[in-house]
Amino acid sequence: MHGTISLWVKALVALVATITIAEAVPYNSTNSECRYLPGDAGWPSNHAWAQLNNTVGGRLIRGVPFGQPCYGTSADAPACAKAQDTWEDLSPFLEDPVNVISSFFENTTCSPFYGPLSTDAAKRNATCSLGSLASYAINVTDAAAAVAGVNFARDHNIRLVVKNTGHDFLGRSAGQGSLALWTHHLKSYTFFEYKSQNYTGPAARIGAGAQVQEMYEHANKQGLRITGGSCPTVGAAGGWVQSGGHGSLAAKYGLGADNTLEFEVVTTDGKHLTASPSKNADLFWAISGGGPSNYAVVLSVTMKAHEDGPVAGSAITFVEKDPEKYWAAVEAWEKHLLVLDTIPGFKTSVTLTAGIFSLDFATLPDGSKEEVTTALAPFHRDLEKLSINATTKLTVHDTFLEHYLDYEAGIVYSRNVTVGNRLIPPDLVRSDTRLPQLTKIYKEILATPNTAIFIIAQNVTQARTGHIDGDNAVIKAWRESLHDLNYALINDPLATFDDLSADLALVNKWQYDLRDITPGGGNNMNEATYDYKFWKEDYYGETYARLAGIKEKYDPDSVLWIQPGAGNDKYALRGDGHLCKT
Ligand SMILES: Cc1cc2nc3c(=O)[nH]c(=O)nc-3n(C[C@H](O)[C@H](O)[C@H](O)COP(=O)(O)OP(=O)(O)OC[C@H]3O[C@@H](n4cnc5c(N)ncnc54)[C@H](O)[C@@H]3O)c2cc1C
Ligand SMILES: *[C@@H]1O[C@H](CO)[C@@H](O)[C@H](O)[C@H]1NC(C)=O
Ligand SMILES: *[C@@H]1O[C@H](CO)[C@@H](O)[C@H](O)[C@H]1NC(C)=O
Ligand SMILES: *[C@@H]1O[C@H](CO)[C@@H](O)[C@H](O)[C@H]1NC(C)=O
Ligand SMILES: *[C@@H]1O[C@H](CO)[C@@H](O)[C@H](O)[C@H]1NC(C)=O
Ligand SMILES: *[C@@H]1O[C@H](CO)[C@@H](O)[C@H](O)[C@H]1NC(C)=O
Ligand SMILES: *[C@@H]1O[C@H](CO)[C@@H](O)[C@H](O)[C@H]1NC(C)=O
Ligand SMILES: *[C@@H]1O[C@H](CO)[C@@H](O)[C@H](O)[C@H]1NC(C)=O
Ligand SMILES: *[C@@H]1O[C@H](CO)[C@@H](O)[C@H](O)[C@H]1NC(C)=O
Ligand SMILES: *[C@@H]1O[C@H](CO)[C@@H](O)[C@H](O)[C@H]1NC(C)=O
Repeated sequence: MHGTISLWVKALVALVATITIAEAVPYNSTNSECRYLPGDAGWPSNHAWAQLNNTVGGRLIRGVPFGQPCYGTSADAPACAKAQDTWEDLSPFLEDPVNVISSFFENTTCSPFYGPLSTDAAKRNATCSLGSLASYAINVTDAAAAVAGVNFARDHNIRLVVKNTGHDFLGRSAGQGSLALWTHHLKSYTFFEYKSQNYTGPAARIGAGAQVQEMYEHANKQGLRITGGSCPTVGAAGGWVQSGGHGSLAAKYGLGADNTLEFEVVTTDGKHLTASPSKNADLFWAISGGGPSNYAVVLSVTMKAHEDGPVAGSAITFVEKDPEKYWAAVEAWEKHLLVLDTIPGFKTSVTLTAGIFSLDFATLPDGSKEEVTTALAPFHRDLEKLSINATTKLTVHDTFLEHYLDYEAGIVYSRNVTVGNRLIPPDLVRSDTRLPQLTKIYKEILATPNTAIFIIAQNVTQARTGHIDGDNAVIKAWRESLHDLNYALINDPLATFDDLSADLALVNKWQYDLRDITPGGGNNMNEATYDYKFWKEDYYGETYARLAGIKEKYDPDSVLWIQPGAGNDKYALRGDGHLCKT
């Protein structure tokens, strides 16, 4: 009896040992030239996934495409109708572990407008798959879960992505066959006095899942302000800060990346580290503006916080059907920016759509109505000369949050857009021969149906932000710019992948046209295209080589991989979706 048990125990020990060995050398991954995709022999077994789920306390989630209720044997008409109704809203995508906002990367691989429930016979044959979306996600709520996810993806040779809000226009929070670290629930806000060689003063440690408006609300309760984006739901500690990050306080305190004090990270070797100017300083430098999800996974960021106080603001809107007058007014605005950008703290954001000009907000922290009126008076005089009748608003709010809620929080964003970008230098606008080249491109963009242009101006020169040359990875072209130029092409919900690809090609064409008139310039990579061929020079510029070196040091095997990411050359995406060694 005794012997039998002992044999049985020995057998069990042997079995466990076999499993352990099998797990330690999984699927010959070191020799595989591609990250495994579902269906590949090397793809982790159900047992391996179940073990991971166990390790992360049952927080492993299988990715489900947004349009799934419209497909398969369980197709559900009411749920499908709901998916159609909310297809253009941001909110369901923000709350989802794998689905993303960008139409292009969400792809048409499971559109709720196609499939068996469609009344249109030609659309009924469509099928549903995850496309570029992650296969699994871990609902990360602590460092241990992030470490487990990083180790699993690395050891099983599968792609690893980080998904926060899914706002990314470049598809960097998606990845076919990947495991996503879903950071949305890492919500925490701690306010304290920070003391370091570089900075002493109020600070906030913000969890990686924090979103802009929530962060502003938390800071407001402490009598503080923190730089964040304009869109209320963009992540405050994710892709926004890691690629620079502009918002309405940027002309006063600098970009998001100019306000970072430290990051709490997990590196791809599974280590939980701090990166600051004194610890892992190279990593801190890279994550402060050098691109997201490329060097490490961020769990929290500590940012400078600033004493709150009154914020003055203004808005100007007009409709002008006469193109000559309209474009004269737009050029006048560009010229006025040359002066407005020299006013400390003065930030503006303008939207142009065919025949409509909207200064959505001018923001002057700690300013008065008189100062804003004086600043905008020369532009109003130009409008009068052109007999353009504009609607104006002028305010002073007691706090930044109230200003934000009045001007920015209500702007409605929908997800059916393709976006491009260029940083516009002041010398282009200053030159009477070169400014018309810019206007010509604006005209071409707005002559295309369903487009909009955004002129987002903030002076983030070194003199303004207190940063010395190269002390973070924000590119010089941004420091020296007069404004950030974004433009959007709106697509129809029924757009096919070919339609979306054509939109992307057109948006890229304008990026190339803008490049031609701003030689040596750059782009704000967060709002630019993923497949623009000058991405190394224009998105990273003088920082590229150093960033690629830091990538090599902290993630030599490209466990994290993005396009366009510094040092991503070791792997490339193949047409069949495999990410393979080059
Ligand atoms: C409607 C809309 C409005 C916008 N408004 C602004 C604006 O006002 N100002 C501005 O500067 N930008 C703006 N953007 C651009 C925005 O900053 C980028 O899309 C940014 O990448 C979003 O970051 P996220 O973390 O919210 O989104 P996600 O798509 O979830 O992530 C974006 C990138 O960051 C990575 N990432 C996210 N979290 C982490 C983490 N914890 N660790 C490591 N990597 C991480 C992801 O892997 C991905 O590469 C806007 C975008 C949209 C769609
Ligand atoms: C591992 O994979 C490589 C190529 O993919 C193959 O040549 C090699 O034989 C494999 N090794 C083992 C132990 O299976
Ligand atoms: C992970 O485990 C939890 C709890 O047991 C379960 O609800 C969930 O479905 C599992 N996830 C996956 C992908 O199997
Ligand atoms: C659907 O697919 C079948 C088989 O591939 C094909 O015969 C049929 O014509 C298709 N129908 C439509 C409407 O495309
Ligand atoms: C996106 O959709 C198109 C068309 O359906 C398909 O050819 C392409 O492979 C898809 N991309 C991904 C990553 O699934
Ligand atoms: C993710 O985790 C959070 C925090 O525990 C929980 O509230 C939420 O319901 C989880 N989401 C999913 C989809 O499992
Ligand atoms: C921090 O201070 C050191 C020493 O003064 C300086 O060299 C460095 O550039 C500073 N870094 C940042 C990010 O401010
Ligand atoms: C200017 O616009 C205002 C408000 O839109 C309107 O009341 C007024 O009549 C307009 N004046 C002229 C001269 O068009
Ligand atoms: C930014 O402001 C500084 C002074 O603070 C000024 O020298 C510089 O010209 C301004 N930059 C732009 C682009 O207006
Ligand atoms: C797409 O987005 C725009 C706003 O960006 C919205 O007005 C429009 O209704 C949406 N849908 C279509 C079909 O264009």
